[in-house]
Amino acid sequence: MHHKPVILTGLRANNDLHIGNYFGALLPFIDMARSKAGDYQLNLFVPDLHSFTTPIDHTQLHNQIMHNLKLFVAAGLDLDNPDIYLYRQSYVPAHAELTWILDCFTGFGQMRRMTQFKDKSAKLTVQETALTPPLIDIERDVSVGLFNYPVLMAADILLYGASYVPVGEDQSQHLEFTRDIAERMNRRFADVFPENIFKVPEPVANQHEFFAADQGLRIRDLNDPGKKMSKSDELGKGVIFLGDDPAAAAKKVMSATTDSLAMVQFDLRERPGVSNLLQILALLDGRPVSEITSEWKDRTSYGELKTTVADKVYAFLTDFQSKLTAVDESAILRKLETSETAMNEVANTTLLRAQQAVGLRPRS
Ligand code: TRP
Repeated sequence: MHHKPVILTGLRANNDLHIGNYFGALLPFIDMARSKAGDYQLNLFVPDLHSFTTPIDHTQLHNQIMHNLKLFVAAGLDLDNPDIYLYRQSYVPAHAELTWILDCFTGFGQMRRMTQFKDKSAKLTVQETALTPPLIDIERDVSVGLFNYPVLMAADILLYGASYVPVGEDQSQHLEFTRDIAERMNRRFADVFPENIFKVPEPVANQHEFFAADQGLRIRDLNDPGKKMSKSDELGKGVIFLGDDPAAAAKKVMSATTDSLAMVQFDLRERPGVSNLLQILALLDGRPVSEITSEWKDRTSYGELKTTVADKVYAFLTDFQSKLTAVDESAILRKLETSETAMNEVANTTLLRAQQAVGLRPRS
């Protein structure tokens, strides 16, 4: 078999996706898959074992994953491309097995210093404190799974010998950890495996061409443009979900927070509300923000800008949702099945090497 370099990424699927996820993650990935297939192999997987590192509704998880896979297809993912593999992490048991092995070679201190762990565990603590002031207990309420998550992520990457892992800035540290554990294991077991157990992914600095050009655009919450649009926002007043009723979504745009300066200008720091509307317009139109900005610059009617954005959001959701209805679920199931069969084979080959290195299996 001829091996193409592997580009791998995991898209979490335990929440409803919003337009920020769509333009910031889903669409860039699908565009990249389209442009790189042929020269590269693309592993696109749903990290379902990662879904409950923070609390979720378990009764919804399985449906949610299938729903999100449909969103990928509605957004243009080509299921017929043989270079694209689409699979669910938990359907490849080697992820969990390799994680355990890697766990035993990972320092507690190194994991404790991961910034995402620190942020997320702090956030859980704050949320719980607001609900039940005296009862928060970091010892009990922050799971070992959350702590351990970067090790699982390393296994996700190393099992397939991925070279490129296009992820957001917030994941760079996990990627560095992945390189670190791979190099350490390779060195530690060089006597058994002089040819290396794991392929070390490219350094983060070399990954940039695989990041989409507009990765830097972060859609803000419409209601509170000081923060980015986030799926964990419970009220959803400032968030446009892909499944929102188009008319309701248009209303959210009309009541977006702006400012009292009554002059359109792009300045994310000082004028985040208006700038956010310009960004959304640019993404919906598929045009650069600079172009949109010069068109609207110094106009005085925010109402006009909002109406324009609201109409486009309405049209976008209407079109997207009709594509979603047309998605053939059985085609997704067939793709998952062939991909998961192929991926189990690759992953088990790597797992066996790790098992041999640590002495669980003989090296024949
Ligand atoms: N941690 C990623 C996120 O939160 C998702 C993820 C899990 C991932 N495993 C991965 C991404 C492996 C790339 C490679 O977005």
